[in-house]
Amino acid sequence: MEEFLNLINKRQSCRKYLDKHVEKEKLIKCIEAARLAPSACNSQPWHFVVVNNKELSPKVAMCLQDKVMNKFTTECPAFIIVVEEGGNLTSRTGALIKQQDYRSVDIGIAAEHICLAATEQNLGTCILGWFDEKKLKRLLNISKLKRIRLAIAIGYAADDNLRRKIRKDINEIATFL
Ligand SMILES: Cc1cc2nc3c(=O)[nH]c(=O)nc-3n(C[C@H](O)[C@H](O)[C@H](O)COP(=O)(O)O)c2cc1C
Repeated sequence: MEEFLNLINKRQSCRKYLDKHVEKEKLIKCIEAARLAPSACNSQPWHFVVVNNKELSPKVAMCLQDKVMNKFTTECPAFIIVVEEGGNLTSRTGALIKQQDYRSVDIGIAAEHICLAATEQNLGTCILGWFDEKKLKRLLNISKLKRIRLAIAIGYAADDNLRRKIRKDINEIATFL
Protein backbone atom coordinates (compact mmCIF):
# COMPACT_ATOMS: atom_id res chain seq x y z
CA MET A 1 0.00 0.00 0.00
CA GLU A 2 2.83 2.42 0.90
CA GLU A 3 4.38 1.97 -2.54
CA PHE A 4 1.07 2.67 -4.21
CA LEU A 5 0.48 5.84 -2.18
CA ASN A 6 4.06 6.94 -2.84
CA LEU A 7 3.46 6.67 -6.57
CA ILE A 8 0.25 8.68 -6.25
CA ASN A 9 2.11 11.30 -4.22
CA LYS A 10 4.90 11.46 -6.77
CA ARG A 11 2.49 12.34 -9.57
CA GLN A 12 2.04 16.06 -9.87
CA SER A 13 1.18 18.35 -12.72
CA CYS A 14 4.44 19.10 -14.48
CA ARG A 15 4.64 22.50 -16.16
CA LYS A 16 8.35 22.63 -17.03
CA TYR A 17 9.94 20.02 -19.23
CA LEU A 18 13.48 19.17 -20.32
CA ASP A 19 14.31 19.26 -24.00
CA LYS A 20 14.71 15.48 -23.93
CA HIS A 21 13.18 12.86 -26.21
CA VAL A 22 10.61 10.51 -24.66
CA GLU A 23 11.26 6.86 -25.52
CA LYS A 24 8.43 5.30 -27.53
CA GLU A 25 8.54 2.17 -25.31
CA LYS A 26 7.63 4.31 -22.29
CA LEU A 27 4.67 5.85 -24.11
CA ILE A 28 3.52 2.38 -25.16
CA LYS A 29 3.58 1.36 -21.46
CA CYS A 30 1.40 4.39 -20.65
CA ILE A 31 -1.11 3.37 -23.32
CA GLU A 32 -1.02 -0.21 -22.01
CA ALA A 33 -1.93 1.16 -18.56
CA ALA A 34 -4.86 3.04 -20.15
CA ARG A 35 -5.90 -0.07 -22.06
CA LEU A 36 -6.30 -1.95 -18.77
CA ALA A 37 -8.44 0.76 -17.17
CA PRO A 38 -12.01 -0.09 -16.18
CA SER A 39 -14.92 1.44 -18.11
CA ALA A 40 -18.71 1.27 -17.94
CA CYS A 41 -19.82 -2.05 -19.49
CA ASN A 42 -16.18 -2.45 -20.55
CA SER A 43 -17.00 -0.20 -23.50
CA GLN A 44 -13.51 1.36 -23.64
CA PRO A 45 -14.81 4.57 -25.24
CA TRP A 46 -11.44 6.06 -26.09
CA HIS A 47 -8.77 6.52 -28.69
CA PHE A 48 -5.34 7.84 -27.84
CA VAL A 49 -3.41 9.91 -30.34
CA VAL A 50 0.22 9.86 -29.27
CA VAL A 51 2.28 12.76 -30.60
CA ASN A 52 6.02 12.43 -29.94
CA ASN A 53 7.50 14.25 -32.84
CA LYS A 54 9.78 17.28 -33.07
CA GLU A 55 7.75 18.75 -35.96
CA LEU A 56 4.24 17.98 -34.76
CA SER A 57 4.52 18.44 -30.98
CA PRO A 58 5.03 22.24 -31.16
CA LYS A 59 1.99 22.49 -33.44
CA VAL A 60 -0.08 20.53 -30.91
CA ALA A 61 1.23 22.83 -28.15
CA MET A 62 -0.13 25.82 -30.08
CA CYS A 63 -3.62 24.28 -29.89
CA LEU A 64 -3.31 23.80 -26.14
CA GLN A 65 -2.44 27.36 -25.20
CA ASP A 66 -3.60 30.93 -25.47
CA LYS A 67 -2.35 34.23 -24.06
CA VAL A 68 -2.97 33.08 -20.49
CA MET A 69 -3.21 29.32 -20.27
CA ASN A 70 -0.81 26.46 -20.85
CA LYS A 71 2.12 28.46 -22.29
CA PHE A 72 4.41 25.82 -20.78
CA THR A 73 3.29 23.25 -23.37
CA THR A 74 5.66 24.86 -25.91
CA GLU A 75 8.55 23.11 -24.13
CA CYS A 76 6.81 19.75 -23.86
CA PRO A 77 8.13 17.03 -26.21
CA ALA A 78 5.10 14.71 -26.26
CA PHE A 79 1.34 14.67 -25.87
CA ILE A 80 -1.39 12.08 -25.61
CA ILE A 81 -4.68 13.36 -26.98
CA VAL A 82 -7.72 11.51 -25.65
CA VAL A 83 -10.58 11.22 -28.11
CA GLU A 84 -13.98 10.03 -26.94
CA GLU A 85 -15.35 7.08 -28.88
CA GLY A 86 -18.95 5.92 -29.09
CA GLY A 87 -18.92 3.26 -26.38
CA ASN A 88 -21.01 0.12 -26.82
CA LEU A 89 -24.75 -0.45 -26.92
CA THR A 90 -24.99 -1.52 -23.26
CA SER A 91 -23.08 1.48 -21.92
CA ARG A 92 -25.01 3.88 -24.16
CA THR A 93 -28.33 2.40 -23.03
CA GLY A 94 -27.22 2.56 -19.39
CA ALA A 95 -26.15 6.19 -19.83
CA LEU A 96 -29.52 7.06 -21.33
CA ILE A 97 -31.56 5.31 -18.64
CA LYS A 98 -29.44 6.55 -15.75
CA GLN A 99 -28.72 9.97 -17.26
CA GLN A 100 -25.01 9.63 -16.59
CA ASP A 101 -22.08 10.51 -18.81
CA TYR A 102 -20.06 7.35 -18.29
CA ARG A 103 -17.71 8.04 -21.19
CA SER A 104 -16.17 11.10 -19.55
CA VAL A 105 -15.82 9.17 -16.31
CA ASP A 106 -14.09 6.31 -18.16
CA ILE A 107 -11.73 8.72 -19.89
CA GLY A 108 -10.82 10.34 -16.59
CA ILE A 109 -9.87 6.97 -15.13
CA ALA A 110 -7.79 6.06 -18.19
CA ALA A 111 -6.06 9.44 -18.07
CA GLU A 112 -4.96 8.86 -14.48
CA HIS A 113 -3.70 5.38 -15.40
CA ILE A 114 -1.56 7.08 -18.06
CA CYS A 115 -0.24 9.65 -15.59
CA LEU A 116 0.63 7.04 -12.98
CA ALA A 117 2.33 4.81 -15.55
CA ALA A 118 4.33 7.83 -16.67
CA THR A 119 5.26 8.70 -13.07
CA GLU A 120 6.46 5.14 -12.48
CA GLN A 121 8.77 5.60 -15.49
CA ASN A 122 10.10 8.93 -14.16
CA LEU A 123 8.12 10.99 -16.65
CA GLY A 124 6.21 14.13 -15.76
CA THR A 125 2.66 14.74 -16.95
CA CYS A 126 -0.03 17.37 -16.92
CA ILE A 127 -3.65 16.66 -17.75
CA LEU A 128 -5.04 19.49 -19.86
CA GLY A 129 -8.69 20.35 -20.27
CA TRP A 130 -8.09 23.80 -21.76
CA PHE A 131 -7.47 23.65 -25.50
CA ASP A 132 -8.78 24.75 -28.88
CA GLU A 133 -10.67 21.61 -29.78
CA LYS A 134 -11.49 22.63 -33.35
CA LYS A 135 -7.90 23.57 -34.14
CA LEU A 136 -6.57 20.37 -32.57
CA LYS A 137 -9.02 18.23 -34.54
CA ARG A 138 -8.00 19.93 -37.77
CA LEU A 139 -4.31 19.47 -37.03
CA LEU A 140 -4.62 15.78 -36.13
CA ASN A 141 -7.23 14.93 -38.71
CA ILE A 142 -9.82 13.94 -36.11
CA SER A 143 -13.45 13.88 -37.25
CA LYS A 144 -15.53 16.98 -36.49
CA LEU A 145 -18.16 14.64 -35.05
CA LYS A 146 -15.86 13.36 -32.31
CA ARG A 147 -14.97 15.05 -29.02
CA ILE A 148 -11.47 15.50 -27.70
CA ARG A 149 -11.93 15.28 -23.94
CA LEU A 150 -8.39 15.68 -22.65
CA ALA A 151 -4.82 16.22 -23.66
CA ILE A 152 -1.94 14.95 -21.55
CA ALA A 153 1.43 16.67 -21.71
CA ILE A 154 4.23 14.20 -21.12
CA GLY A 155 7.99 14.47 -20.85
CA TYR A 156 10.96 14.60 -18.50
CA ALA A 157 10.38 17.12 -15.73
CA ALA A 158 12.88 19.97 -15.50
CA ASP A 159 12.41 19.97 -11.72
CA ASP A 160 11.96 16.76 -9.72
CA ASN A 161 11.09 18.47 -6.44
CA LEU A 162 7.73 17.40 -5.09
CA ARG A 163 5.31 20.21 -4.24
CA ARG A 164 3.12 19.93 -1.18
CA LYS A 165 -0.28 18.69 -2.26
CA ILE A 166 -3.04 21.14 -1.43
CA ARG A 167 -6.13 19.06 -0.82
CA LYS A 168 -9.32 19.19 1.22
CA ASP A 169 -9.26 17.37 4.53
CA ILE A 170 -10.41 13.74 4.49
CA ASN A 171 -13.35 14.60 6.79
CA GLU A 172 -14.54 17.18 4.31
CA ILE A 173 -14.63 14.81 1.37
CA ALA A 174 -15.70 11.52 2.89
CA THR A 175 -18.49 10.28 5.11
CA PHE A 176 -17.90 6.98 6.88
CA LEU A 177 -21.17 5.39 7.96
C1 LIG B 1 -9.72 17.45 -16.12
C2 LIG B 1 -8.48 18.25 -15.79
C3 LIG B 1 -8.16 19.36 -16.55
C4 LIG B 1 -7.00 20.10 -16.28
N1 LIG B 1 -6.64 21.12 -17.10
C5 LIG B 1 -5.47 21.77 -16.88
C6 LIG B 1 -5.02 22.75 -17.81
O1 LIG B 1 -5.63 23.02 -18.85
N2 LIG B 1 -3.84 23.39 -17.53
C7 LIG B 1 -3.09 23.10 -16.42
O2 LIG B 1 -2.04 23.70 -16.25
N3 LIG B 1 -3.50 22.13 -15.53
C8 LIG B 1 -4.65 21.47 -15.75
N4 LIG B 1 -5.05 20.48 -14.88
C9 LIG B 1 -4.20 20.13 -13.72
C10 LIG B 1 -4.81 20.60 -12.39
O3 LIG B 1 -4.67 21.99 -12.27
C11 LIG B 1 -4.08 19.85 -11.25
O4 LIG B 1 -4.29 18.48 -11.38
C12 LIG B 1 -4.55 20.30 -9.85
O5 LIG B 1 -4.28 21.65 -9.63
C13 LIG B 1 -3.85 19.48 -8.75
O6 LIG B 1 -2.44 19.61 -8.83
P1 LIG B 1 -1.48 18.37 -9.09
O7 LIG B 1 -1.91 17.71 -10.39
O8 LIG B 1 -0.10 18.94 -9.23
O9 LIG B 1 -1.60 17.43 -7.94
C14 LIG B 1 -6.18 19.74 -15.16
C15 LIG B 1 -6.52 18.61 -14.40
C16 LIG B 1 -7.64 17.86 -14.71
C17 LIG B 1 -7.93 16.62 -13.90
